[in-house]
Amino acid sequence: MSLVKQIDTARLPSHIAIIMDGNGRWARQRGMDRIFGHQQGVRALREVIEASAELKIRFLTVYAFSTENWGRPDEEVSALMGIMVQSLNKETDTLVKNNIRLTAIGDTERLASDVKERLMETINVTSGATGLNLIVAMSYSSRWEITEAAKRLSAELAGRSVNPDSVNEFNFEKYLTTHGVPDPELMIRTSGEMRISNFLLWQLAYTELYFTEILWPDFSKEELYKAIIDFQKRERRFGKTSEQLLDK
Ligand code: IPE
Ligand code: IPE
Ligand code: MG
Repeated sequence: MSLVKQIDTARLPSHIAIIMDGNGRWARQRGMDRIFGHQQGVRALREVIEASAELKIRFLTVYAFSTENWGRPDEEVSALMGIMVQSLNKETDTLVKNNIRLTAIGDTERLASDVKERLMETINVTSGATGLNLIVAMSYSSRWEITEAAKRLSAELAGRSVNPDSVNEFNFEKYLTTHGVPDPELMIRTSGEMRISNFLLWQLAYTELYFTEILWPDFSKEELYKAIIDFQKRERRFGKTSEQLLDK
């Protein structure tokens, strides 16, 4: 049976988050420059967006560039920014046609003005879309996000527009960049690395994690289906016992 047929469409995750890792190693294995790996990674992302839209997944968050990635060699950073602009130039029409809404999370103020403008333009033209919500984490890190949230909350507390006793984990969420987006049920990381690398630390509290050895440029629709099938075999207990879940 084909993989996609094994997916229970009634139990799909509403939000999938992906750490797209392994571009550099993929290129190196072929004796190529790391940047070639980033270019090939775009194809994999395109497939995953298409598959997510076909499955009617509501939210797809992809980690494209971390705060820490600013520390890479200048040529690599500018190549990554170039790939971002090129991909947006090339794919914005396809996003519109497929009713896909793009948003970004992260410290986009750090982006060069041409990158930021191109990103904002696509965000604007897709803002009315009602299909897949594609969230790109760009110049993003979770500690940055949580610190920003704490700063905003502190300002409100100081201005007495918020009462400290009223702060709880549910309304703290409104200060995060993912405000209004359900937490991911499934987080995929490629390339065999088993770490979170400063990605959605708050939001991943109860997410099912899926790690695969596949390097990002080799990731495909089939690999996404495998991750979803694996996810659907898990028992999500949220602190309860299996028996309690069966009693429901
Ligand atoms: C992921 O691939 C892309 C970004 C982090 C921008 P890497 O560039 O991290 O590839 P590896 O991990 O070095 O193979
Ligand atoms: C995480 O990958 C960031 C992105 C995929 C954009 P890295 O390759 O930068 O992560 P570390 O530094 O190896 O943990
Ligand atoms: Mg990496």
